[in-house]
Amino acid sequence: MSKPLVILGVFVADAAYRAPRQPRIGETILGLDFKLGPGGKGSNQSVAAGRLGADVSFITRLGTDDFARMANEIWAEAGVKPAIIETPESYTGSAFIFLEEATGNNAIIIAPGAAALLSPADIEKNRALIEGAGVFITQLEQPVDAARHALEIARAAGVTTILNPAPAASLPDEIFTLCDYLTPNESEAEELTGIEVRTVDDARRAADALLAKGVGTVIVTLGEKGALLHSRDGSEHLPVVSAGPVKETTGAGDAFNAGFATALARGDTPSNAVRFATAVAGISVTRAGAALSMPTLQEVEALLARN
Ligand code: RIB
Ligand code: NA
Repeated sequence: MSKPLVILGVFVADAAYRAPRQPRIGETILGLDFKLGPGGKGSNQSVAAGRLGADVSFITRLGTDDFARMANEIWAEAGVKPAIIETPESYTGSAFIFLEEATGNNAIIIAPGAAALLSPADIEKNRALIEGAGVFITQLEQPVDAARHALEIARAAGVTTILNPAPAASLPDEIFTLCDYLTPNESEAEELTGIEVRTVDDARRAADALLAKGVGTVIVTLGEKGALLHSRDGSEHLPVVSAGPVKETTGAGDAFNAGFATALARGDTPSNAVRFATAVAGISVTRAGAALSMPTLQEVEALLARN
């Protein structure tokens, strides 16, 4: 039986523009395509976890506008239990996403709106929910002090803690000691350690530096090079599980983190959880959108059975 998964983070509406290149300051260029859909790292992780069969609750703040309706629709569809603080004085956030036509890679500006107001007091209101979790995960789109307070509560209650340090931010030293798992990508690992991460060996060096800061286990996601699972007990490099040609990478990190957290919550070993996570991400990149590209458990199991 899976233990409850609790996620703290941000929902935004992703406004995604596909174009041959980014405009320069002062310039207007013609785009090729536009899509509006559900995004935000914490919400994407919640939707993915829901589709993967996790018992998942999501803590955030939303405005009382059309984008809040979009959030509630996707959560209902995915079976996510929302723990929402309504914030009529602000707005539900939005993200500008530039999608590079040739590669499917992106560049993003996110305005978290109401979720930027998430505070330690909000976390305190959700103390019982966090204490009742088997696994807790958060990211860094909401204020760091809210993330840190939630990690403190989870840690004190013996809940397995995961920090996905995205987007990269400078972090207080104590936060590392609250993380059973830290899941940076290459650039986040570099930002947190000052070690340039291009190869799997670089990732190992950066992961060692993060272990020295007090993290339990480090997982560096390496894009098309897969992921590195690194702790004092050992180091394992897991390759990508490909599900087809890459269409859009937005949300791939969220797919990975959700897969990992869901697998841990149902009792998988860290190594099996990373393999599962890699398959979740592998499917998400073959589809357009962020939350909308997240696979179901059946799809992931079918891909793993073929590999
Ligand atoms: O991780 C992808 C997400 O980052 C997008 O959905 C966008 O909203 C940004 O927050
Ligand atoms: Na995608």
